[in-house]
Amino acid sequence: MAVTPAYQRLGIGSRLVFKGLRTAKRLGHKSVIVIGHPEYYPKFEFKRASEWNIKAPFEVPDEAFMALELVKDELKGRSGTVEYPEEFNEV
Ligand SMILES: CC(C)(COP(=O)(O)OP(=O)(O)OC[C@H]1O[C@@H](n2cnc3c(N)ncnc32)[C@H](O)[C@@H]1OP(=O)(O)O)[C@@H](O)C(=O)NCCC(=O)NCCS
Repeated sequence: MAVTPAYQRLGIGSRLVFKGLRTAKRLGHKSVIVIGHPEYYPKFEFKRASEWNIKAPFEVPDEAFMALELVKDELKGRSGTVEYPEEFNEV
């Protein structure tokens, strides 16, 4: 996700995140994983994925790998390593 620098800090990123989360929920997704700024995503209630013992398939700082439950307790009792689609590995 990115907002062009001249338009940052105007609330556009937050609106995109909230819209994305609402859409993901409507489509039936139950949780979301992100790699991102550790100071940014906690505003949307993302927490370290390691709290659920969920790991990234590559090296990433613990605080930058975060998860959010769209459905309460969806990640409770789950653990493991996230698998990304092939396209993600090409970025
Ligand atoms: C991260 C990014 C998408 C945020 O978009 P934005 O439109 O500037 O965000 P908002 O205006 O909605 O900011 C919401 C809040 O987050 C804060 N914030 C914005 N960018 C931040 C950052 N990089 N780190 C910490 N806090 C940030 C804002 O100050 C604001 O705080 P407030 O609600 O307390 O006032 C934007 O800075 C960006 O495109 N950065 C470059 C690309 C990037 O790093 N993408 C993220 C990959 S995970």
